[in-house]
Amino acid sequence: MANDQEKEAAARASLRFIRDGQVVGLGTGSTAAFFIRLLGEQVRDGLRIRGIPTSVRSKELALSLGIPLTTLEECQEIAVTVDGADEVDPELRLIKGGGGALLREKVVASATRQLVIVADATKRVPVLGKFPLPVEVIQFAQALVAKRIAALGAEVRLRAESGIPFVTDENNHILDCHFGEIPDADGLARQLSDMPGVVEHGLFIGMVSTALFAKGSEVVELHR
Ligand code: A5P
Repeated sequence: MANDQEKEAAARASLRFIRDGQVVGLGTGSTAAFFIRLLGEQVRDGLRIRGIPTSVRSKELALSLGIPLTTLEECQEIAVTVDGADEVDPELRLIKGGGGALLREKVVASATRQLVIVADATKRVPVLGKFPLPVEVIQFAQALVAKRIAALGAEVRLRAESGIPFVTDENNHILDCHFGEIPDADGLARQLSDMPGVVEHGLFIGMVSTALFAKGSEVVELHR
């Protein structure tokens, strides 16, 4: 089965976590986009929810589908967020940020009661780190932070296209940090959070309630 069909299957399975009247966090990325489109269909059929998007991209998609939105200004408690991931380990720790939205994604996740991750089964890994860990940095500090992360054993690259640095929704840059394997994700998360100049990193630890992985037409559900 094509990957897109698996992403859609995982996204579809997450719909049963959404109830009428809830505030719903809208993730970012290709799998989350399937969820937003399916949610749009349910809204058209009468479901009443308000969404909080995790990126400008997801906001525009939700608006184009007529999904009513709210903001963290108005509402600081989110019942359910459905989002994708780049890697998920057996403890449901994540690497996120491949799409560059990790900062708003983590803020929304932190205000969420039930974080539901949707992904195809290729995202399941025994140990995090094969996917380069995105770290969002203020532009002023990026060279210094890059040097410090390299000293921890990573190969660090500034995310850029045709030589132009990628700029996040919060106007920062992203360092993609190739660790290969991260034996102590909790320890690394603390080290990165303690580095001045780091705005946020893509390790999501202790945040996920449920992960839905699609393989073929089957969806495996894991809970933490
Ligand atoms: C966006 O910044 C990311 O955290 C995405 O959730 C992650 O990259 C997964 O994206 P896909 O669903 O497109 O693989």
